[in-house]
Amino acid sequence: MDSSNEIEDLQQANATLSENIQKLGSEMELVQQRFEQQSKLAGIGQLTAGILHEIRNPLNFVNNFSRLTLDLVTEMKELLNASESTETEEVLELVDMVNVNINRILENGSRAERIVQTMLTQTRTDANQVIPTDLNQLLEEFSKLAYQGVRGNDKEFNVKFIFRLDPGIGKVNLMASEFTRVIINLVNNACYAVNARSKEQNEPGYVPEIMVSSALNGDWVDIRIRDNGIGISQDTVEKVFNPFFTTKPPGEGTGLGLSLSMATINEMHKGKLTVTSEKGVFTEFVISIPLNL
Ligand SMILES: Nc1ncnc2c1ncn2[C@@H]1O[C@H](COP(=O)(O)OP(=O)(O)OP(=O)(O)O)[C@@H](O)[C@H]1O
Ligand SMILES: [Mg+2]
Repeated sequence: MDSSNEIEDLQQANATLSENIQKLGSEMELVQQRFEQQSKLAGIGQLTAGILHEIRNPLNFVNNFSRLTLDLVTEMKELLNASESTETEEVLELVDMVNVNINRILENGSRAERIVQTMLTQTRTDANQVIPTDLNQLLEEFSKLAYQGVRGNDKEFNVKFIFRLDPGIGKVNLMASEFTRVIINLVNNACYAVNARSKEQNEPGYVPEIMVSSALNGDWVDIRIRDNGIGISQDTVEKVFNPFFTTKPPGEGTGLGLSLSMATINEMHKGKLTVTSEKGVFTEFVISIPLNL
């Protein structure tokens, strides 16, 4: 081999090396970004646990006093029924109305309590712990929670939820905290898509709709989250599960939601997460998980 060849080889090797160093540099940047994101998320977790603890006490107060007041109302009704005063009927009507109102307060207070309880156990327990979970209740509560989250940022936002939940499902073995995050992300995405459609397209009579369904399918359970939002085009649909793929403006999406959801369903629950969509018409995500995890 003569020396000019050697020099050429060396130059070539040098060029490759500097290319590799550049690649490594940008990869490190990505890793650093991810690390920062993760630590931010961990901080949010701690903050959430703190807030949940603070909310739980006043919430207990609301629920306990609602229960006590319901007992008092029952006693009052008994006394009124025994009394012979002429105004009894009117008062009884009022007492009935008070009864209905307190029942509503208790119902919603208990709902909040369940959400706080679920979230608290999730922040405490090992994320990989399998817990027998009332799947339908989880779907309904966390869909609404995701919706409230979007509404918190946009008071004009509204969507019609349709729940088709198979009552035969009962408790399903889930890694509840991770699974909940999947539902929140999917419903969040659906809310975003219907909101974008109602804002971008000027379609009179458009009613934003999200359907959440659960159904037994042999030894599996299928959960569908379907929206009539902007939809996804054929060439984009292949990319939606890629980490960091997002069509949302900077600051609004990290593009991690679906890739993390995919990992949670595939790896942690030995299930499948798939999507079908038609641009401008609908998007449907289907989660299938085995019942005997
Ligand atoms: N229901 C949907 N309708 C239309 N497009 C969707 C829907 N769900 C997901 N997408 C598309 O897939 C992309 C990736 O979704 P993903 O949940 O992974 O990230 P993101 O929502 O953009 O950000 P993040 O979830 O991290 O906040 C979205 O930016 C959007 O383009
Ligand atoms: Mg998302």
